[in-house]
Amino acid sequence: MNEIITEDYAAMSRAAADWFCERVAKKPDAVVVFPTGSTPVGLFKELIARRKAGQFDPSRLRIFQMDDYYPVDPADPRSLYGWLKLEFLDPLGIPESQVVPLPGNAPDPVAACFRYDQALAAVGGYDLAILGLGPNGHIGFNDPPAQPTDPTRVLNLSQSSIETGIKSWGSRQATPTQAISAGMAQLLGAKEIALIVSGSHKRDILRQSLRGPLTPNVPASYLQQSANVTVIADQAAWTE
Ligand code: GLP
Repeated sequence: MNEIITEDYAAMSRAAADWFCERVAKKPDAVVVFPTGSTPVGLFKELIARRKAGQFDPSRLRIFQMDDYYPVDPADPRSLYGWLKLEFLDPLGIPESQVVPLPGNAPDPVAACFRYDQALAAVGGYDLAILGLGPNGHIGFNDPPAQPTDPTRVLNLSQSSIETGIKSWGSRQATPTQAISAGMAQLLGAKEIALIVSGSHKRDILRQSLRGPLTPNVPASYLQQSANVTVIADQAAWTE
């Protein structure tokens, strides 16, 4: 496992952009997956700025969506697909034809998740997965307990993720209790993974993920088994 420790959040975002752009320069049509949440926002701004400056060309990327609430319509303000499109894909100039969304509003989510995994397998899996780290050790929306073999699926959110949702959506009633997430198997099977982590509130869960036992109760702990993982964390999130 490679470890890149940066001074602060801005430097972490730049380091993550460097990691990503170096690899896309070598494989412009890479199959990629990005996290949601607050951690990648600096990375997204950095990539948008680099594209405007002509330093990064995302025009051939193939993007798969990582996670969303379920059920939500893409036009719903809680839709993470809608958020990703507004904050990142549109400013980056990526049309929907370059994106495989998760079926956040599919009437038959089991069949739709199966189709997502088939579409991903047909292109050889993710080349590059950038992962955030949930406060309970989730990756994507794979809340604990999560097995490393779990496929893309609809799942019940943990109390911790529901509490986070309540902060965003104002009330328990407005907060979805289910999510749809790229599977553990799919994320862990990416050819290269960058785990981006910022802030002292992530310090304990990051240490458990990287140095603790492999356990379904800390889904990110299974990253210890994946080849080619780079942790990009700021000092606040890092302890030896
Ligand atoms: C969110 C998302 C993840 C994200 C994680 C951490 O709920 N499902 O994709 O990586 O939780 O979020 P944050 O970066 O805001 O701490």
